[in-house]
Amino acid sequence: MAVTSANPLRAGLRLARVPEPSVMVIFGGTGDLSTRKLVPALYDLARQRLLPAAFAIVGIGRAALTDSEYRAQLREAVAENSRSRPIDEEVWASFAERLLYVSVRSEEGYDDLRRRLARIDTDLGTGGDRLFYLATPPVAYAPIVRSLGRSEVVRSGTGWARIVVEKPFGRDLETARALTETLHEVFKEEEIFRIDHYLGKETVQNILVLRFANAIFEPVWSRQYVDHVQITVAEALGADERAEYYEGAGAMRDIVQNHLLQILTLVAMEPPAAFEAGAVRDEKVKVLRAMRPIRPDETAERTVRGQYTAGFIEGDPVPGYREGREVAPESRTETFVALKLFVDNWRWEGTPFYLRTGKRMPKRATEVAIQFRAVPHQVFSAEARDGLEPNTLVIRVQPEEGISLKFGAKVPVQGIRIRSVAMDFVYGASFLVDAPDAYETLILDALRGDGTLFTRKDEVEEQWRLVDPVLRAWQESDAEPPAYPAGTWGPTEADLFIGRDGRRWRQP
Ligand code: BG6
Repeated sequence: MAVTSANPLRAGLRLARVPEPSVMVIFGGTGDLSTRKLVPALYDLARQRLLPAAFAIVGIGRAALTDSEYRAQLREAVAENSRSRPIDEEVWASFAERLLYVSVRSEEGYDDLRRRLARIDTDLGTGGDRLFYLATPPVAYAPIVRSLGRSEVVRSGTGWARIVVEKPFGRDLETARALTETLHEVFKEEEIFRIDHYLGKETVQNILVLRFANAIFEPVWSRQYVDHVQITVAEALGADERAEYYEGAGAMRDIVQNHLLQILTLVAMEPPAAFEAGAVRDEKVKVLRAMRPIRPDETAERTVRGQYTAGFIEGDPVPGYREGREVAPESRTETFVALKLFVDNWRWEGTPFYLRTGKRMPKRATEVAIQFRAVPHQVFSAEARDGLEPNTLVIRVQPEEGISLKFGAKVPVQGIRIRSVAMDFVYGASFLVDAPDAYETLILDALRGDGTLFTRKDEVEEQWRLVDPVLRAWQESDAEPPAYPAGTWGPTEADLFIGRDGRRWRQP
């Protein structure tokens, strides 16, 4: 069973390389992720002719549905959620033919699945290559993997087999390790694709391009020039619709352990020898290993959590977190987290990385801000510099994707007055194509066997190693997470936290 090796030139070849014939089997095929993200992304790939001609998608669920009932459900989902609307009837017709459904409710269901896959290989020429995708609630991961192994569905094909595992990958270090062990009973590590959809975002990948395809940034990308880094993932949405999951997760597990730490590794890592799965992930894991642990007695000094109460988003009233159905009236689940992290290595020693994320913030904004140090000697008077802010490079991950660099310029009046201005790159203005959705990119990469943008076992473990002690300290503390009204940038404690270091949060 050969796993296609990653191609160092993949960035350049991305648009040209269509994966080999294969079947994608989606567990949780009727669920929220499949209908909102996966199948619309697959349709968009089909529309761009990026799927192989011999290809099939097999949705798996408990409900007894025929293929045509399944197609009808998904047609609506695609019409609502795909990037290109309205649906192109011709594309849909050929896409729908390759959309199949198998109901699996018991062990025998896996035998049906094995037989169905064999038939598909014969009928559609899909060649025995299989991509399994776990899009179910995490409690189902281990049972599915074991059943796949027992029923020999995985090894029934004549080609490769891979598995994509959605987040959350475990709920702490121990459960993450146990899940990896279960996966290893059936799949080799290089056949496992742990997804973090932030890595599929164009703007997140562009962090590496900005740093390593340009000569001008790397020389100043270190403790000598950088005062500190702020990484923000702010959402205006609340936890409402997914409260049942969120109650048991909280912002630390939902966003910090994965998305925020992944962005941090891309900002902080050393240049890899090539843009290739092994090299890139080796460098990322080195960053995670170099991160200074947060000791229990440092929790108060290096972290802040919060929970939103009722407030306003864009003028509309919204309820507080605890008012949500499925939320305990005295829930202590954090909907906001701020952290101060350090990467203890040659490049970053002493440079704080402030991370923050929250639900029900004033707006949706994900960005990385690199704030540079002040000049070593002030040539201009304090009065002249009155309107001057620190040089800051901001990578706007979403929305309004782009990069801006803030610097001081002379105000065009007599005498010297300096004000901050910005050089701005806006994706939409420079490129006329719409960026692919993260799931399009990642599904295509998994079909091609390229793990560069997926999280390796050691990365996931290091991420948990960092956040576990904080989660434990919070759990053991009697204190409640400080409240913040919906539509604000988190609790006052978050401002005091960064203020103690003589710094301020940016307003994205
Ligand atoms: C998911 C989280 O991983 O990311 C959600 O579980 C969050 O809570 C989502 O809303 C944010 O993703 P995006 O792509 O909308 O920034």
